[in-house]
Amino acid sequence: MLVGGESQMNNNRGCLIVFEGTDGTGKSTQLSLLANYLQDKQYPVVTTREPTEGKYGQRIRGLYLQRDSCTPREELELFLADRKEHVDNMINPALASGKIVLCDRYFLSTVAYQGAIGFAIDELLSLNSFAPEPDIAILLQASLDTGRKRITENRGEQLNDFEQIENLQKVAAIFDSLSLPFIKKISAQGSIESVHSKVLSEVLPIIPQTLRNVD
Ligand code: TMP
Repeated sequence: MLVGGESQMNNNRGCLIVFEGTDGTGKSTQLSLLANYLQDKQYPVVTTREPTEGKYGQRIRGLYLQRDSCTPREELELFLADRKEHVDNMINPALASGKIVLCDRYFLSTVAYQGAIGFAIDELLSLNSFAPEPDIAILLQASLDTGRKRITENRGEQLNDFEQIENLQKVAAIFDSLSLPFIKKISAQGSIESVHSKVLSEVLPIIPQTLRNVD
């Protein structure tokens, strides 16, 4: 990861686009709209997410209802191990073969969520230095109340242990304080369509035309 803005793009490399934000801001919806849009335009897209479905990701899901069953350091190490496996087995090979990788959550989630339980931001960024810097990180921002309603009323789900309100205020404040060059903050308060338009206007200029599958 090169925090400082230098692009890692070269002629053969694909493009890494990540969606970040607190739960209920519409990350998955926007990711899937963007994936459909790009596929229609003949771009080679792969979609993925963190935590993954791998062995560490499954252990992380076990913490959703019992976060205190491990120490903060153990929790952090699980997220890092999950990401390391994801980067080595999926993200880097896809980028090397010219794919556009759309990822729902990535290392800024570690910075915000594990930062909120007391780890220093610089330490968290440095522990993630193995992870390639995204070409763009779309940070979706909505009021915590909007997010909570979308989770509990629209999806009919419970807030997991990571999304409890006191913690979430800190998470949202850390996300908001980040000003790395690849982060684009977008308000997620509007309609799905209006947020999608804003996502397109940030993402399209950074995708090289040369990645298209044109025969
Ligand atoms: P999600 O699958 O609904 O996005 O939930 C994943 C949860 O894990 C979410 O509450 C945020 C949390 N999380 C972290 O605490 N650190 C991380 O590095 C990642 C990727 C997620």
